[in-house]
Amino acid sequence: MKNRGELYLFGLLLVLSVPIAANFRLRASAQSSVGGPVLPVGKTIQIKAPLGLPPVPIPADNPPTEDTIALGRRLYYDSQLSVDGTISCASCHAPQFAFSDEHQVSIGVGKKTGTRHSPTVINSAYNALQFWDGRAPSLEEQAKGPMANPVEMAHSLDGVVKRVQADPKYLALFKKAWGTDQINIDLVAKSIASFERTVLAGDSPFDRFYYGHDKKALSPAAQRGLKIFTNPKKANCEVCHTIGKTSALFTDNKFHNLGIGADTRGNLNDVGRFSQTKRDEDMGAFKTPTLRNLAHRAPFMHDGSFPTVKDALAHYIGGGNMNDHLDKQIHALDFLTFDERDDLLQFLDSLNGKLPDNVGPPPDLAAAPKTTKTSGK
Ligand code: HEC
Ligand code: HEC
Repeated sequence: MKNRGELYLFGLLLVLSVPIAANFRLRASAQSSVGGPVLPVGKTIQIKAPLGLPPVPIPADNPPTEDTIALGRRLYYDSQLSVDGTISCASCHAPQFAFSDEHQVSIGVGKKTGTRHSPTVINSAYNALQFWDGRAPSLEEQAKGPMANPVEMAHSLDGVVKRVQADPKYLALFKKAWGTDQINIDLVAKSIASFERTVLAGDSPFDRFYYGHDKKALSPAAQRGLKIFTNPKKANCEVCHTIGKTSALFTDNKFHNLGIGADTRGNLNDVGRFSQTKRDEDMGAFKTPTLRNLAHRAPFMHDGSFPTVKDALAHYIGGGNMNDHLDKQIHALDFLTFDERDDLLQFLDSLNGKLPDNVGPPPDLAAAPKTTKTSGK
């Protein structure tokens, strides 16, 4: 029979060895080419949320490091990810257009057009689901979509991996970030997602007023607009474009039908969320977008049908487009005075915050990103 001391030591070893073994297994699978959870090799860093935003949600299998973020940033701006080397993520989500684009619907490889407007990547880290219809559960999954989408980057996921694997610069960057130069599409997507989690905008005049308690940060008109925005008896915007106690995403992360794209008979040309859930109440419903940084990302709505914020507001004033599935919270706001409407616009204009300095194109690609500018604009 062992003595007490030996037993204690044995127990202690057992307790200690479990996490070590678990850690070893994770590391071992990172080296393997068969997949499994692959973790970055560097030190995890904390992405600092600006004033007015909650802590950035981070998936357990993709903790951000300086190297994965830098790699993701390069991939994001690199048009080599598209089949003919003309389109990068930034072609449709460009920094100069608040990480959206200026086209009604996006234009991809070979000037092919999609059916929806490019939503902003700003603060997409907080989206419970990605895409207008919520069909991707995470930024990691989302990122794979456009690379293989025939009207976007028109590549195949294998094609992207081959392209990246053939570039010695990327081999070194992947080795540094992920400890392997066996590149796969998950590592590409994870890197891009980590970069996207740094594309954050808060600390706007509204945030400094509301959360920073700087009474002078908002003009009197914008302060009145805020009250109209939140008042259920006035504009009632906040019921969907949420403002929290300690932070504001300006979205409830839910799906609603405003009748965007409905014709005069109430026929919808895009079923929206219904395509994913097949539930009647999701017919023609789209994800509530954030209202932050509207200034440079016109046009608006899932079909890009409104050239200005004022046009979007006019849609609400009119009570949306009638159809069988119009959201119950949408009703005519024609009782708002013209001054009240102006105040609302002033408030929306106070939601523009500065982006971090290092979210633009990386220096060695600075000249490369081609925007999809059409002539005559
Ligand atoms: C040709 C234009 C185009 C390209 C290229 C493109 N996107 Fe998009 N992106 C869109 C459009 C359009 C949507 C909305 C599609 C939908 O909802 O059906 C979208 C949706 C998204 C969303 C979801 C945002 C939200 O609020 O739901 C993210 C994030 C995103 N793209 C990131 C990327 C990344 C990363 C890349 C590069 C790998 C990329 N996009 C390439 C046009 C593009
Ligand atoms: C019932 C929920 C709901 C209410 C109430 C609501 N919105 Fe929206 N808002 C949405 C949804 C959903 C969209 C996207 C709809 C689409 O594209 O089909 C949207 C889109 C927008 C957009 C375009 C943003 C972009 O990125 O394209 C603006 C601007 C906007 N809303 C402002 C307002 C204002 C101002 C009010 C109050 C007068 C308001 N909203 C009330 C749900 C709502």
